[in-house]
Order: sequence, then structure tokens, then C-alpha cells
Amino acid sequence: MDVSNRILWLLSVVCFGFVNGQVSYSIPEEMSKGSLVGNIGVDLGLDIKRLKAGKARIYTGDSAQYIELNRERGVLLIKDKIDREALCRQTTPCALHFQITLENPLELFPVTVEITDINDNAPIFQKEERTFEISESAVVGSKFMLEKAIDPDIGLNGLQRYTLRPSDHFILKLHSQSDGNKKVEMILQKPLDREKQERMSLVLTAEDGGEPQMTGTMQIHVNLLDANDNAPVFSKTVYKASITENSAAGSLITKVSASDVDKGSNGEVIYVIGNTADTVSKLFHINNEGDVILDGSIDYEKEKNYHIDIEAIDQGGLSDSSKLIIDVIDVNDNNPVINMISASGSVPEDSSHKTVIALMSVNDPDSDINGKVHCFINENIPFEIKITSNNFYSIVTDSDLDRERNSEYNITVTCSDEGVPSLSSSVTLTLQISDVNDNPPVFERSSYEAYIVENNTPGLSIFTVKATDSDWNQNARVSYILEDSSVNGVPVSSYVSVSADSGVIHAVRSFDYEQIKDFQFRVKAQDGGSPPLSSNVTVKIMIQDQNDNVPQVLYPVQTGGSLVAEMVPRSADVGYLVTKVVAVDVDSGQNAWLSYKLQKATDRALFEVGLQNGEVRTIRQVTDKDAVKQRLTVIVEDNGQPSRSATVIVNVAVADSFPEVLSEFTDFTHDKEYNDNLTFYLVLALAVVSFLFITCVVVIISVKIYRWRQSRILYHSNLPVIPYYPPRYSDTLGTGTLPHVYNYEVCRTTDSRKSDCKFGRAGSQNVLIMDPSSTGTMQRIQSEKSILDEPDSPLEVSITMCTFITLPFLCMSF
Ligand SMILES: *[C@@H]1O[C@H](CO)[C@@H](O)[C@H](O)[C@H]1NC(C)=O
Ligand SMILES: *[C@@H]1O[C@H](CO)[C@@H](O)[C@H](O)[C@H]1NC(C)=O
Repeated sequence: MDVSNRILWLLSVVCFGFVNGQVSYSIPEEMSKGSLVGNIGVDLGLDIKRLKAGKARIYTGDSAQYIELNRERGVLLIKDKIDREALCRQTTPCALHFQITLENPLELFPVTVEITDINDNAPIFQKEERTFEISESAVVGSKFMLEKAIDPDIGLNGLQRYTLRPSDHFILKLHSQSDGNKKVEMILQKPLDREKQERMSLVLTAEDGGEPQMTGTMQIHVNLLDANDNAPVFSKTVYKASITENSAAGSLITKVSASDVDKGSNGEVIYVIGNTADTVSKLFHINNEGDVILDGSIDYEKEKNYHIDIEAIDQGGLSDSSKLIIDVIDVNDNNPVINMISASGSVPEDSSHKTVIALMSVNDPDSDINGKVHCFINENIPFEIKITSNNFYSIVTDSDLDRERNSEYNITVTCSDEGVPSLSSSVTLTLQISDVNDNPPVFERSSYEAYIVENNTPGLSIFTVKATDSDWNQNARVSYILEDSSVNGVPVSSYVSVSADSGVIHAVRSFDYEQIKDFQFRVKAQDGGSPPLSSNVTVKIMIQDQNDNVPQVLYPVQTGGSLVAEMVPRSADVGYLVTKVVAVDVDSGQNAWLSYKLQKATDRALFEVGLQNGEVRTIRQVTDKDAVKQRLTVIVEDNGQPSRSATVIVNVAVADSFPEVLSEFTDFTHDKEYNDNLTFYLVLALAVVSFLFITCVVVIISVKIYRWRQSRILYHSNLPVIPYYPPRYSDTLGTGTLPHVYNYEVCRTTDSRKSDCKFGRAGSQNVLIMDPSSTGTMQRIQSEKSILDEPDSPLEVSITMCTFITLPFLCMSF
């Protein structure tokens, strides 16, 4: 049944009802099946029987039958649930019109059942949700159309109002429209900010006015569209970062970030470095992620920190700026630098302690401990390094220098910093120690002894002294100087000379052992320093004997024509001591060891000569047949190599009386012309002899006293015995006189077991003055042998000697 037919049918029912006492009921919709609508029998005045009999029924025409008739009870019941909204939609009032038809008789009763609305429908929205995309920059007052809700109920049960929650940004505005509906709009009443709230969920609620009230809701989603309304913002106003120097290019230094709360491209930030002018922009760059990256190389020693202006810019050109401070961290990458400010190349060895030798400054550009420098020098050298002030060092001497020990030092200065690992550098200074004349020349020996054989040629080099000086150059140039002294009263320079350069000692003269046996002098070695230093040494020159002297026959005296005769009485026994040949040799040692031999004799069988002592003795009984005049030639030889010898002629008179001798010996007088002078010589001799005798006695007494005092000491000393010959012996050959005082001391031992010393002093008693013309003079001289052999009675001997010497002369004078 279509709608138009139904309406038509309803109209007919209503009209019909009016015709036959119309019954109306009003029931709410939605009553459940079987619910009582109305007691129709009563209402129509019909009893049950009639109804039954009349087969009462409901006639609805084409329309659907919602209500049924219960004839038994005479009531109308709900046959089908009635939905007013389905039945009448918005039409009011809404009624069901039908007829109750009865048969027998046919009757027709219109019945109207008004269906009243109940609030059985909630307002509903077509869609459950709706999404809006709204730019955050939308202006206040912007309108947004919302959907209407539909509530089929009518009247109060119909849609009454809308609410929108929450209502902080949007409010609702309803516009009544010509069709009675309402236009629902949402109006922006407060600026939006996507950055605060990007999405909003609103609930639009439609309410009806029923009891209970029913509502319908719709979700309204508002998505805010971004607008570039926010600038980027750096997370810090100042960033701090650090990087070690010498970091490789490409190292990430730090990351900065600026946030832009805008979305999408509006929130995309790029970073730039603001310092375009200076070097910073060449050293660093920043990428879009905010990574600050090192581009070049950085050196702490050049720049300790960098201040970088960084900017963050979004696509819309909004920007923020910040500062990035990059501290460069020092790395121990610099060796200390040693600068010699001044250095002496040499220093005198006598420099006082703490003499400054070098001054230097030391620098390490690194910072802190990397730049903290310590300097030291090599050990075991007499120097030390001192810090004078910040970074300035000096090298000073700290103990004595000695060029002779070390003439050069290599001073190595090493400076190292405290970094880890530590860096160091060093310089080497070569220092020469210059010489100071602090060493005197030193002789190789503490004293020298040298030997030279007498009769050397003058100028002969004897030997060489040598002194060395450990100083250098001029200070070590040694010259030798003979020191002034005198030898036996003669300046030593007349004996020797010293070569200044070579130290060779030359003999200036020919030495004579018999004059001088040794002498000593000092040689000074002096260096060339200023002032010069010197030392001296004693040089002892020993002169060695040469057999250069022939034995000298002291007795019998040989004079050209003079006659000295020994008298041998004819009664003399075998072994009679005729005389003694006395000879001396001024040489020494072997050269003076004399031996005596009989070379020639008138009668060889009569005499012999003692080899050692030169004693001439008879070896047989003298007979009358023996000639008065005997002539013996005795040769005296020394033991030198080659040996030297002298001969002496001993005249012996074999006679019993002096006149006999005289008569015999007149022959010996060859030079008669000397007789004139005889008297003169005799007187002179007598005077001299007398004088000598007195002197002799005086001397002997003095000596005796002196000797007596000395003997106690000397007899008990074990002195070695050295023959000592007087230094001033001079030969007076040809005159037969010994004009000099001829003193000599003999200290000798005759036997090694007997080491007593015996002193003999012969004075002028040995002096013989011979008159060559004298014929009758016989002299017997006690030689020194007598003195030596009879040490206990020198006085007696001497007196005897003097008497011997003197008496013949006295006799002769008278
Ligand atoms: C000092 O160094 C130089 C050069 O290296 C070297 O010839 C010299 O012998 C050294 N001197 C000393 C005393 O070590
Ligand atoms: C010689 O040297 C000694 C020390 O050896 C010294 O006492 C003396 O004075 C020196 N003599 C001279 C003349 O220099």
C-alpha cells in the first residue's frame, strides 16, 4: 500500500466514524502486542454476544492492521507494535482510523485511535564523526558548517538543542531556516595555535526534550594546519664545546639544535654560521643536522677559543641565533724551544764559582703542564743550571775548573715539559777551558846527578834536565835558567851553562878532578806565563878521575944536579932500611895506587925496593968491596889505565964516615960555579929552618891539644875511609920546592877489620930546600908514614922530625 492510498483510507475512516457515533482512543505508540487499547464493547454499547453474533471485525481497508478486536472480551488489543514515526512521520496528530463492522445487522462503527508520540528516538547524526582541517592562522569568527541531527520524534520529543563541547575555541551558532530546520555552525572564537594543540576533538551533542531525554552525538575532529608562525629556537643561548688541537678535519665538534615548533617545511631548520668575515667560517661548518664540524686545522698556540655565531633559519625565513664557544684543548705538541741568549765559548780555568757561562730562555707554547718546562744538564760536569727568572736559565760553574784535566766540555742542556708524553729538546754547548798559568814546570826528577870525566873538552854537553809544564802553549813553554851560585868562590856559570830551550847542560871549562870532585848548582825551569811560574832542581855534577897525573916523587927530591945521598954504614945488616922513596899521585883510586920497583942499580944484589912502600933495603951484608957510591933508579908506577910512572934516582953512599962520603961525592958536583952562592944559601936555609922549627913546635902542640880532644869522639866512629888529597896541590917541578902550604889529611884504614881513623898532619916539615952545591948534607925525613904508623905519639914524632930536619942544618952552619 502506498502512502497516498493509506492517507486516503484514513480520511475515509474518520469520516465514517463521524457518521456512526465515533469512538476515539489515544494510545502511546510502541505498546506491546496484546496491550489493551480500549473496551470497545462498552464504549459502543454493544455486549459481547452481539459482537460475537455480529461477527464484529475490524476493517482497515488497505491499511495495515495494527489493532485487533477481541470479540470475547469486547476489547481492542494491539496487534502490531505501532511506531508513530513510521506511521505518521512528522504529521500530527497521528491517528489510526478503522471501522468495526458487525453483521446481522450490519453496523459500522468508526473508531479512531490516536497514537501519541513517545520519546523513542534519539536525535541522530548522519555521520558519527566529521573532520575539519583548519589552518592555525584562521581568523576569529570563521564559520564552519556542521551537520544537523535528526530526531523523528515530534514536539518536545523532537530535537531541541545542540551543544558543543569543549567550547574553548569554538562556539555553536544556530540559524533558523525557512523550513523550520536549523543551520548549525561552529564559529572560531579564539585564535588557534597548532603548536599548542594540533588536534581537537569536539563533541556535538543534539538533545531532544523528551522524558527521559535522549541525545545524539557526533565527534568533530579539528586538525590544525600549520602556519609558519614560529621561529626556530635554539636549545641554548650559548653553547660550549671543546676540541683538542690538531684534531683531524671532519671531526664533529658538537651538535647544536634549534627547534621550530612549526610543522613540516615550516619547521625545517637550516643552520648557518654567522661570522662570515673572519676565519671562523673557513674553519668550521655546520650541517643541517646542527653538527658543527671542523674543516681546517686548529692550533691552540694560535687561537685558544673561537666564538661562533650560529643561526637557525626555517623555510619561512624566521631565524634564531646563538653563540657557540669552542675551547681549544691544548695538546702537548710543541717541544720546548731553547734560545741561547749568550754563551761564552771559553772560560778561564781559574774562573770563580758561579761564573755565568751561558744565558738562555726556554719557551714552550703549550699551556699548563704541557708548557711547564724543566731544564737540566748532563751530569758529572762542574756546571749547574739555574733558573734565573721565569723561563730564563743560566749555566754557571759550580766547582773548580782545571784545563789540565778537562780542556773542553760539551754541556748538553735538555729541557722537557711535563706533558704526557713529555716533549723535550736539547742544545749542546761546547765550552773551552782556557789556560791559566797555574802549573809550574815540574822536573822529571827531584834531583839530578851526572858524571863527567875530567879533562873534558869545554862545551861538552853533560846531560839534559827536563821539566814539563802541563799548562798550554806559552804557559807551558819552559826555559831553563842556571841559578846563580858559586862553587869554590867562582860563579857556577863559569863551570856550566844551561841551554835555555833544551835544558842541555854544557861544561864551560875543562874540569880537573884534582881540583874539584863535584859541585852542585840549581837549575830553574820557568814557564812563559805571566807571571811566570818556576821550580828548581839541584844538579850535582861528579867529576870522574882520569889518570892524568904522574906520580910525584916527594923524596928523594930530584933536582937537576943536586945530590942527595943516603948513607949506609958498612956495618949495616941485611934488611937495613936505606931510605924510603915517597911518592904521591894526585889522582885517586887506582890511578893513585902506586907501586915501586927497582929499575936500575949499580949493584942489583945489594938493594931491593918494597913494591908497596917504596922502602929501599939492603938484601945482603954490605962488604968493603961494595962501592961507596951506589946509584939506584926506582920507578914509581900508578895503577891507572894506562899507567903513568915516574923514576927517581936514589944515591946511596956506602961509607962509615961523613968525610969519606964527601970525598966520594965530590964527583957528583958538576957545577963548580955555584960555590960562590953556597954561603948565602946556607945562611938562608938556616934562618928558614930555624923559623920552621919554632913554628913546627907551636903547631904540633896546638894540634896535639886539639887532637886529644877530638880523638875520643873519632876513635869510636866507624867512618869509611876515603883518601882525600888536598885540592890545591900544585906541582913545582923544576924548582925542587913545594912553595905552597901542603896540608893534607889522611883518613885511611890499613886493615878492614880495623876501622879507626888516623889523622896525620904534615906541615912545613916536608919542605926541603936543597942546596945543589952542598955535598955533605944528609937528610932523613920522617915522611907521613911515620906519622901514620905511630899514631899514639905524633908529638914525639914531629919533634923528632923537626929535630932531624933542623939539626943537620945547624951542624952544617957551624
Ligand atoms: C764534544 O763534542 C764534539 C762534537 O760532537 C766532539 O768532537 C768532542 O770530542 C766532544 N768533547 C768532549 C769533551 O766530549
Ligand atoms: C828552589 O826550590 C825550592 C823548593 O823546591 C824552594 O824552596 C826554593 O826557594 C827554590 N829556590 C829558588 C832560588 O827559587
